[in-house]
Amino acid sequence: MADLKTTYMGLELKNPFIAGASGYTANLDKIKQLEEAGAAAIVTASLFEEQIQYERFRLEEDLHQFDNLYAEMTNFFPQVKHAGPKDHLGWVRKAKEAVGIPVIASLNAVNRGIWSEWALQLEDTGADALELNFYATPNSFEKSSMDVESEQIEILGEIKNKVKIPLSVKLSAFYSNPLYFIKQLDEIGVRGFVLFNRLFQPDINVEEQTNLYRHNLSTGTEYEASLRYAGLLHGNIKGDVCANSGILSGKDAIKLVLAGASCVQVVSTLYKNKISSLANLIKEAASWMDGKGYKELSAFKGKLSATNNQDPGFYRRAQYVKNLIKADYTS
Ligand SMILES: Cc1cc2nc3c(=O)[nH]c(=O)nc-3n(C[C@H](O)[C@H](O)[C@H](O)COP(=O)(O)O)c2cc1C
Repeated sequence: MADLKTTYMGLELKNPFIAGASGYTANLDKIKQLEEAGAAAIVTASLFEEQIQYERFRLEEDLHQFDNLYAEMTNFFPQVKHAGPKDHLGWVRKAKEAVGIPVIASLNAVNRGIWSEWALQLEDTGADALELNFYATPNSFEKSSMDVESEQIEILGEIKNKVKIPLSVKLSAFYSNPLYFIKQLDEIGVRGFVLFNRLFQPDINVEEQTNLYRHNLSTGTEYEASLRYAGLLHGNIKGDVCANSGILSGKDAIKLVLAGASCVQVVSTLYKNKISSLANLIKEAASWMDGKGYKELSAFKGKLSATNNQDPGFYRRAQYVKNLIKADYTS
């Protein structure tokens, strides 16, 4: 029987399937079910800056009910400006105690101070690693892409100096040159790159002419951008690639490993087919390996990466031209 073991950011994983951040990983029972189904690790649902700000706001409102006592109360609560989502930290700690597999905490912030402060708090929960979810919707016409990237790199540097557990960064695919950006993060010491996040996107209901909030799960081959960058990065960075988005089957995961990923994160397939279906993905990957005579994952990891590919243009745009020449698009 094939051995699916892999390593990610120095963590030993029994197989390449990590349960990505979602509502399931915000629930202790589901986290235990994920472990039973074979998940090699879990990424907890993110602690979002909105949660932190919301709780601060609520706390301030509560305190204002006692305005005359406010000065006195801030003496009672010297940490009041740091009051935040303690519940979130509490259950990350509980999750860590409840399962034997690695627990990766996740943080999504916007303001600089909040990133470092909460990265440290999440490290204190005992989490094995920290995933920084770098997604923020651009909302300024004044900030250039270079400004955004420089700020993210500075934030990363600050966190790296403070936090001792391994750090990964979950990115959206919307960078002008993800390779350049990732290379810079790699040089700072980021150990894992989660490629790529699948973002909630706005939609519109034309009948009602209202906003449409879709529960958008991955459907088809949305792993394509991850596959491209896993292939291009393999052998060119020190950190590990963890592929994400649209990985719905065991064979999808195998494709990403062939391109160069060390592991994958799955979410949509668990929502569509139940948590227990994760065991089938693992079985499918193992039986593919058995069928091909691979005893371990490292035997084929990166076999079809850009560096090892017989067609050097495969992951590059030139391939598109080749397709046009080869295929008959006239009918
Ligand atoms: C219900 C739900 C909740 C999610 N919550 C988070 C989250 O808290 N943090 C995060 O980084 N990603 C979150 N995601 C995104 C997933 O972790 C993942 O990146 C995305 O769904 C793509 O993977 P998939 O194609 O396997 O679903 C969430 C996704 C879903 C469907």
